[in-house]
Amino acid sequence: MKHIGIIMNGVTGRMGTNQHLIRSICAIRDQGGIKISDDLTLMPDPILTGRSHNKLAALAKRTGVEKFTTDIDSALADPHNEIFFDASGTLQRAGFVERAVKAKKAVYCEKPTAVETSEALRLAKLCEDAGLKNGVVQDKLWLSGIRKFKLLRDQGFFGRILSVRGEFGYWVFTGEHEGQPAQRPSWNYRKEDGGGIIVDMLCHWRYVIDNLFGPVKSVSCLGATHIPKRIDEKGKPYACTSDDACYATIETQNGVICQFNSSWTVRVRRDDLFTMQVDGTLGSAIVGLRKCWVQAAGTTPRPVWNPDIDQPIDFFGGWQEVPDATTYDNAFKIQWEEFIKHVALDTPFPWTLREGAKGVQLAELGLQSWTERKWLDVPGL
Ligand SMILES: NC(=O)c1ccc[n+]([C@@H]2O[C@H](COP(=O)([O-])OP(=O)(O)OC[C@H]3O[C@@H](n4cnc5c(N)ncnc54)[C@H](O)[C@@H]3O)[C@@H](O)[C@H]2O)c1
Repeated sequence: MKHIGIIMNGVTGRMGTNQHLIRSICAIRDQGGIKISDDLTLMPDPILTGRSHNKLAALAKRTGVEKFTTDIDSALADPHNEIFFDASGTLQRAGFVERAVKAKKAVYCEKPTAVETSEALRLAKLCEDAGLKNGVVQDKLWLSGIRKFKLLRDQGFFGRILSVRGEFGYWVFTGEHEGQPAQRPSWNYRKEDGGGIIVDMLCHWRYVIDNLFGPVKSVSCLGATHIPKRIDEKGKPYACTSDDACYATIETQNGVICQFNSSWTVRVRRDDLFTMQVDGTLGSAIVGLRKCWVQAAGTTPRPVWNPDIDQPIDFFGGWQEVPDATTYDNAFKIQWEEFIKHVALDTPFPWTLREGAKGVQLAELGLQSWTERKWLDVPGL
């Protein structure tokens, strides 16, 4: 058994606690580590770091983690800790990554790595120049819905893929009404705190498109701040200074047209909080977070436009759900296992800080496209 010390910074927050600590690191520990061979198992050994002793103590108690400290420098100085992970705020990320690089730790962090491409690239280069292994969370790639889609794509089910329409979002309560508190942190709606749905979501759509449909070539994006005022965690009203909806069109180098709507101001009437319709010459898919439905060319109905009668075709009935082909683990956990193996055994890990910088680049160009009201090409990084 090889124990891998992991500093988990900023994990008292939403993503850190639920996805990274409980559903990934604790789940890996509960399953007995990552079994590599009869002789070798990799066991993550976390130490929680942050600013509040009380919050860290409560989280450690709740999750059964033994070690926590508000003294990050001491955790960084301990050679047992090989990995530094950061799920703190986006604007805090750079400072922490710099400290981890100085301490010669492998660096893994949440997206976006920064809000500007130059800064995201600087962090990538810091790790590269120091010869440190590094990675960025790209969780959507391991969602079961997307894995089912990829399998069919690789088997040629779709023929030539023509277009993609992604719908992401749900209604995030403003906090103004009693009994309906906001379900996302207030910094998400303040630009000065690293908020905004363009920065948040275009990072994801970049790696989804690059990996599933082809390298991104150009972007046109319109943002909106539909709701100008919300109520924060302390019950105080605040001005929303960042976008809460993003309407983006992205073209790939191989000519696939991708439209992605992302919004915290829509009510859901679709199969999931994120769905993506993919249309190809031989078949189409609706890709959800966990499920995927398909329709083949030969089973495509033949509609005739006639608004004078009720629609005679049951369009929803014409789709077939792709069955589970295996058991699907939590997406964050799968990527964590890949990163731990990368650090311990030097296995490949292509989801680097440089790849993460491409997501920041698409977000930055999306914001620029909105401001300038024009299409922009996305240069290689
Ligand atoms: N991969 C995804 O799908 C996904 C989803 C949501 C958020 N995120 C990213 O995860 C990060 C955290 O988002 P969240 O929604 O969990 O936010 P959050 O506000 O719930 O959590 C942020 C955490 O960082 C801590 N923090 C802030 N400043 C700190 C500092 N100086 N030192 C130590 N800790 C500090 C906060 O106390 C809090 O615990 C963001 O960068 C966000 O973009 C990723």
